[in-house]
Parts: sequence; structure tokens; C-alpha cells
Amino acid sequence: MQIIHSPTQIQQICLTLRRQGKRIGFVPTMGNLHAGHLSLMQLAKANADVVVASIFVNPLQFGPNEDLDSYPRTFTEDVEKLQSLDVDYLFVPSEKELYPQGRDVTTTVNVNRLQDRLCGRSRPGHFQGVTTVVNLLFNLVQPHVAVFGKKDYQQLQIIRAMVSDLFIPVEILAGDIVREANGLAMSSRNQYLSAEEKDRASHLNRIIGQTAAQIEAGQCDYPALCQQAREALTQLGFKVDYFEIYNRHNLMPPTADDKELVILAAAWLGKPKLLDNREVERP
Ligand code: PAF
Repeated sequence: MQIIHSPTQIQQICLTLRRQGKRIGFVPTMGNLHAGHLSLMQLAKANADVVVASIFVNPLQFGPNEDLDSYPRTFTEDVEKLQSLDVDYLFVPSEKELYPQGRDVTTTVNVNRLQDRLCGRSRPGHFQGVTTVVNLLFNLVQPHVAVFGKKDYQQLQIIRAMVSDLFIPVEILAGDIVREANGLAMSSRNQYLSAEEKDRASHLNRIIGQTAAQIEAGQCDYPALCQQAREALTQLGFKVDYFEIYNRHNLMPPTADDKELVILAAAWLGKPKLLDNREVERP
């Protein structure tokens, strides 16, 4: 695996690969790789000739009181994991090289219809930071296909919307959520949980599963189902940010005809906010 730091160098390499007719698969990350990330690499590998991964803890997507400085950085372990999967290139830019104009004045991308809702409500500017860096990385790597995890469902749909609105010629693939043995969705921020909280955190997936079963059994009073779930989570000690049943494609409350739904939940347990979701079909 070649590790590239310079944006112009990775762009040259990827342009050459394209000219050689190679299909490029891209997986952007912020490092601290776990089994969830590795499954995204495998999905990229299965859909491309060459896999490029990136590690960049993007300051633009962290709010002033968030964990940018303490975000877990495990570069040596990450490199070993990527090597063991035969990832071809790892792009690791510095902030100075990626945002030479400075993080406050660089050109940004906004997906206005989706970015201020759900997680965007409690993290103003977060999704603008995500779309800005992903657009920039797409311009450098020029992938044919890019892979994002379904765990960050709103992020996935925002990236899809950006790609569609800006006519970016890349196919977006979604990787399934990878879970711990107790059902907790894997996340770099799970390491902020104590052992007891990690056990309790599994209830988030359990309650989403219960709600999914109720929808599949024909219940369609979605506000009532969400309220019931919020109350159950609160009783278990979660501080619920949101628990919603939405149309999976536009992340809006479903109409009576909508069948392809998604249950989206975000709740703090101790320090971290846990995100989880499940796609569900109305019968
Ligand atoms: O999901 C992440 O790790 C980040 O939001 C991403 C897509 C790498 C952009 O920084």
C-alpha cells in the first residue's frame, strides 16, 4: 500500500489509473478504523480494480465544543489493518494542504434541504463540513465508486443528494451497519462508553427492532410509535436527540403511500451520542 500525503500527487496517480482504464473505489474515513470501516473497504474492493482509502480528521465538521482534539487517532494500527486488506493507496493529507485558504474561508458545499435537520439540529455546520471535504476528496481521487456506511444514514443521503445536485460522476454504494456482539452499532466514539454503558447501549438497537416489528405488523401511527420508543429510551437513561420514522429517500415524514421507510435514532448515553437506524418496509 502506498501512503500519499500530497493532494496533487494523489490526483496525478488517480488520473493515470483512470487513463489506464482502472476502476477506482474510494473509502473516505477519519481513521480509528474498526470492523465497520473494514467492511466498507471490502465492498470497495469487490466493486473496483484499485482501492483508495483516506484518513483525515476533518476540522470543518466539528463544532467548537466537540471532540476534534481528542478524536481517537490510531494511525499505525489503521495502516496495518488497511495493508492486511490489500488496500492500494492511502491518502493522508494535512489540514494545511487540504484547506490552504484556511478552514474559515475555504469554499464550502451545502445540501440545504437535508443538512439542518436530525443530527444537523444539534450540530450546526457539521454536514456542511462533511460535504465540503467529501466533494474535495472526490475531485482529488476521481473515484468511479465511493462507499459510505449506512450507520451515518443522514450523511449517506446528504452525499447522495450532493452527487445528484452537482452531477458528480461517482456511484455511491452503501455498506451495512456492522454491530458488536450485543447489537450496538460499531462507531469510533463507542470507546467513550464505560463497560456498563456499552451493555446498556444495546437497548438502542433493540428498541429500533421493536419499532420495526410494529411497523411490519401494520401499525402506522408513526408519531405514537416514536413517542413510545423515546419514552422507553429515556427510562433506560438515554438522552434522546431524536427518534423518527421517515421516508428513507428524502428523510421526511412518510405520506400514507410511502412504503420504504427508515427508523432513525440518536441518543446520548454518558459522553457520546449514539446513532443507529434500520430500514423497514411498510406492508
Ligand atoms: O463518516 C466519516 O468518517 C466522515 O464524516 C467522512 C465521510 C470521512 C468525512 O470526513
